[in-house]
Amino acid sequence: MTTTGTRLQIDHVSKRFSRVGQSTLAAVDDVSLVVEPGELLTLLGPSGCGKTTTLRMVAGFEQPDDGRIYIGDQDVTELMVYRRGIGFVFQNYALFPHLTVFENVAYGLKVRRVPGRDVDRRVSQVLELVGLPGYERRFPNQLSGGEQQRVAVARAVVVEPRLLLFDEPLSNLDAKLRVQMRAELSRLQKQLAITTVYVTHDQDEAMAISDRIAVMRQGRIAQIGTAEELYRAPRSEFVAQFIGRVNLVEGRVLDVTGGRMTVALWGGSVTVAAEPGCAPGTRLSLILRPESLTLVPETTKAGATDVLVLGTVRSRTFLGEKVEYTVEVAGALLHVVTYDPAHRGVVDVGARVGVTCSAAAARPLTSS
Ligand SMILES: Nc1ncnc2c1ncn2[C@@H]1O[C@H](COP(=O)(O)OP(=O)(O)OP(=O)(O)O)[C@@H](O)[C@H]1O
Ligand SMILES: [Mg+2]
Repeated sequence: MTTTGTRLQIDHVSKRFSRVGQSTLAAVDDVSLVVEPGELLTLLGPSGCGKTTTLRMVAGFEQPDDGRIYIGDQDVTELMVYRRGIGFVFQNYALFPHLTVFENVAYGLKVRRVPGRDVDRRVSQVLELVGLPGYERRFPNQLSGGEQQRVAVARAVVVEPRLLLFDEPLSNLDAKLRVQMRAELSRLQKQLAITTVYVTHDQDEAMAISDRIAVMRQGRIAQIGTAEELYRAPRSEFVAQFIGRVNLVEGRVLDVTGGRMTVALWGGSVTVAAEPGCAPGTRLSLILRPESLTLVPETTKAGATDVLVLGTVRSRTFLGEKVEYTVEVAGALLHVVTYDPAHRGVVDVGARVGVTCSAAAARPLTSS
């Protein structure tokens, strides 16, 4: 059962809600994006940023005020929900409690008047696919959370949709199961090659399963790219803070030559790619990821390839494979992560330390 993916295009779509006694809210504000055939694109962003509203417009549960939505070559903006060829999985699975697993999965096929023989075959096939063969006769209340979630996925894919939409499908599950299920979903999505839009506010989940991520903020797309692109080159403080943890440290440009610029940092300097509009004296934010920083003894001298600052450890969180520290440096707090504490040891709260950063690890917050 392999479907060739269909392209989804959202073109300048907006949705406004009127609020009693308040100004109208643009829940989705001029959003455009393309999901390529077979691709899994995640909408990631804080609560209320418009993820579900965007998904509901693609599904047809909500009408956009402006803009068009295309599935393949077809303009579906005004098409009824059930004619769009979409499979959904929502947060609360919404299995029919009085129907068995078989009947739940078969429901969409029966509505479409698929002949009985084919129903049996296709239901067994997808139950196999989601790892639940033999579960046909059970009722939802006889299943674990993870099993219910798989039934919901089976029900969505059994009709061979052109598009799959997931809205926080794993948020009912505990942390371990969530990690396991996201790997399964990812495998299944790649196997079926169904174009998918996935909504979550969990950054790890987004990074683990997505081909690309669209980070949303206040109804707009802040940035879109692969997890690696967003992590390496965030274009705003918002994206930098949302994808991974980050230290934003102010630096001052000393010199710009041949596409590179030297930026003063912590009594030393780092050389980074030149930013448009930067000249000697310009202040800008440098991104220093916590894992690029190293704690060193207070007496360490800065080397030729790194910069150094002195500070005091203010907090420490031991997490087994890593330790997260905050270090107070000239009134600001730096996040530092060190790995393998069993071998490298742990620094105490209150200790005076040096923090070094390899000059190659600093990046300017890119504006373009
Ligand atoms: N039917 C509605 N009527 C009025 N306002 C609405 C309606 N649906 C959503 N909103 C508002 O639109 C904004 C976006 O909501 P949406 O559900 O899309 O957010 P979300 O990104 O999915 O958030 P969450 O992560 O909490 O699910 C919110 O401010 C919400 O209150
Ligand atoms: Mg939502």
